Amino acid sequence: MAKIKAGIIGCGAIGRVIAGAVKKDLSGVVELVGVSDIDVKKAEGLLADTNIKASILGRGELIAKCDLLIEAASGEVSHEIADEALEAGKDIIVMSTGGLLGKPDLFKKAGLKGAKIYLPSGAVSGLDGVKSAMAAGVDSVTLTTRKPPKGLDGAPYIIEKKIDLGSLKGETVIFDGTAEEAVKGFPKNVNVSATLSLCGLGPARTRVRIITSPDFKSNSHEIEVKGDFGQLKAVTQNVPMPTNPKTSYLAALSAIATLRNAVSSALIGN
Ligand SMILES: NC(=O)c1ccc[n+]([C@@H]2O[C@H](COP(=O)([O-])OP(=O)(O)OC[C@H]3O[C@@H](n4cnc5c(N)ncnc54)[C@H](O)[C@@H]3O)[C@@H](O)[C@H]2O)c1
Repeated sequence: MAKIKAGIIGCGAIGRVIAGAVKKDLSGVVELVGVSDIDVKKAEGLLADTNIKASILGRGELIAKCDLLIEAASGEVSHEIADEALEAGKDIIVMSTGGLLGKPDLFKKAGLKGAKIYLPSGAVSGLDGVKSAMAAGVDSVTLTTRKPPKGLDGAPYIIEKKIDLGSLKGETVIFDGTAEEAVKGFPKNVNVSATLSLCGLGPARTRVRIITSPDFKSNSHEIEVKGDFGQLKAVTQNVPMPTNPKTSYLAALSAIATLRNAVSSALIGN
């Protein structure tokens, strides 16, 4: 079987882990043909650290050269990148899933172009159960995210509400709303709420609670679903990436698992 030609756009914490896995474990089935980043030093650093020989390309050139594009850049541009890749008939793995909310045309375009959009589970477990549950009636889907204050620093919601994260004592519910609102208020922190909503009840009917405490040392996500199937509760206690404390290591590993699915002839789990 010919190798899949992959390209990575966004050479930060997640992009580097994916490139490392391609080099170490997936080189028999995936060829990294190029990488792209608005900061060329990040692209150079990724290639140097992983010892991969690939081209540093602009977005358009990278899309033209690959069969499968991996987006690990930013929620501000993920929909544009996905749109450009799908227009060219290329498959895409999107990490910045928050940027895809309210863009149903992208999913239609994938169908029309015969291309695939892959959204990795990211930093949560339990999406398999949510998808199975959706085959019958689902009453409620709730995500409770716990993060240390520094993991929420700089979020538009925190700035807008003038929340002084440094002065909080004990556990505080910072946010309680829909996934749609959570993605606007915390675009770099809760991509998982976007992914959960897209495979479940949708952004307007998925409840998200964000809790912080100076005592929290790592990120955790708890998904609770009630429906005809019964009840589901999935808790994931994450280790943050040393290179980006806002990102959990499992998120990068989920992209590797998705890449494996894309090149596998047998898919285990739904
Ligand atoms: N789906 C999930 O569960 C999940 C979990 C964690 C992070 N994420 C998202 O994945 C993305 C990558 O995360 P990360 O931790 O690697 O971030 P990072 O900040 O470490 O790296 C992002 C890289 O993308 C580059 N970049 C930014 N805008 C770009 C653009 N317009 N074009 C090309 N490159 C651009 C930056 O220069 C940087 O090198 C982020 O959007 C993050 O919010 C998703």
